[in-house]
Amino acid sequence: MTRQQVLIVSSHPLFREGIVRLLGDRADVVGSVTRWEDARQLPLERRPDVIIVDHDSPELKVADLAPLLWPDAEDLRVIYVTLSGDKMTIHARHQVSGAGEADLLRALQGSRPEPETTLVRSETSQNRSKTDPIGASNDPQRRKDRMKKRTYTKDFVIVAVLVAIVSAITIAVLLSLPLMPVEASTQAQSIDWLFDLELIIIGFLFSLIVVFMLYSLIVFRRRNNEEADGHHFEGHTKLEITWTVVPLIVVLILGFIGAATLQRVTAAQPEEMTVEVNAFSFGWLFSYPEQGIKNSPVMNLPLDQPILMKMKSNDADVNHNFWVPEFRVKQDLVPGVPTQLRVTPSLIGNYTVRCNELCGSGHTNMQAAVNVVSQADFDKWVQDQAAAAQKAPADLSPEEMATLGAEIYRTQGCAGCHSIDGVTGVGPTWKGLYEHEVELANDTAVIADEAYLKSSILDPASQIVKGFNPVMPATYKDTLTEAQISQLVEYIKSLK
Ligand code: CUA
Repeated sequence: MTRQQVLIVSSHPLFREGIVRLLGDRADVVGSVTRWEDARQLPLERRPDVIIVDHDSPELKVADLAPLLWPDAEDLRVIYVTLSGDKMTIHARHQVSGAGEADLLRALQGSRPEPETTLVRSETSQNRSKTDPIGASNDPQRRKDRMKKRTYTKDFVIVAVLVAIVSAITIAVLLSLPLMPVEASTQAQSIDWLFDLELIIIGFLFSLIVVFMLYSLIVFRRRNNEEADGHHFEGHTKLEITWTVVPLIVVLILGFIGAATLQRVTAAQPEEMTVEVNAFSFGWLFSYPEQGIKNSPVMNLPLDQPILMKMKSNDADVNHNFWVPEFRVKQDLVPGVPTQLRVTPSLIGNYTVRCNELCGSGHTNMQAAVNVVSQADFDKWVQDQAAAAQKAPADLSPEEMATLGAEIYRTQGCAGCHSIDGVTGVGPTWKGLYEHEVELANDTAVIADEAYLKSSILDPASQIVKGFNPVMPATYKDTLTEAQISQLVEYIKSLK
């Protein structure tokens, strides 16, 4: 038996090496090429008798064109092989040769079953380009592939139903979770509507990904006796266009809805009432220019009254952020840049404004009461404020002043640094401070009398207590009235 001249075609070096090893010296390997075109480089006298083609290689599609390369080849054989580990599968073998018109006519009349020539070639190329990579219609592998195709359709139906069911459950659970506090402004309704829409989309996308993934992991897992590689895919243009265009459209629609919602939430309302919001490290003050109320530590708002908040940060270089979760909207307060925020309170209740910008050691305590009250209660509060403003500090008893001071301590940021129970914080505790000796950073000592307490509030840098950093803001001389400072001092005096 003459030694066969073998050409190996595969894009995988391991395949080519494997075949060379298998053949050993039982055949002449005339060439081992990555791409079919490279076979053109072979010298004419090294024309192969047999072409071994990697069944998993894209070269599969053109191997039968061999007679175009070697037109005088009479009986060129092509063998399709899969090599996986030590196991080998031969999918098909046939002969190809150059042919003329007469050969085609003979083949049509069925008078030349042997050798398989032009007809085989055309049949195999056509079949391969569609569904069947083997090219032999009676091959059991091909029947198996056909069965698999039908199964995929069933798989898609099952997955679609599962996605629908899991989506419905996920969305129902997400929407029923108490993720948001009550809605206390008309702006909150628009935002919650958008939030719910996004939860629905999130629930669907979550289900789509998780169901596809788990279904594939379970149904297409490797069984015990399976060792072959999976099918090789070279991309799917329609699928790729779909999964690019559909999300693009969804994102564009969401962007449009988001912009429309933002516009609705920030739109000017008829007959707005102005409230000036001043933030400082670490507290809030609210002024009502139309009612003549200045620097209130609490914000009272009448129900259903559109509010325009004009906001600024009293600090030189610290941003704060006004955030009442029940109103949903929030806004930065930036030194030197006046900002504004619109809210129409829609639910009577006591809420809290929290600073939502990490601004320093007192950030967590930078809170103030925000109360939505009836119009009647609001009018009464305005009257009380006016009466209190007229009442001179001298009219109040020390106990009344200490009570007011306690409110200032809570609402103006003092509590962020100074404890009232003896615990050392960012600053010294206020408990037992009054009339006790204080050791200063410059190694002198003073008695904490009224004058010392006042000067420490107004000009904190002047007398730093030993062991503490000079971090107290010098802004209280602007944000607190003289009466309020007296009330604070009275409060400190009461903390024996
Ligand atoms: Cu102000 Cu955080």
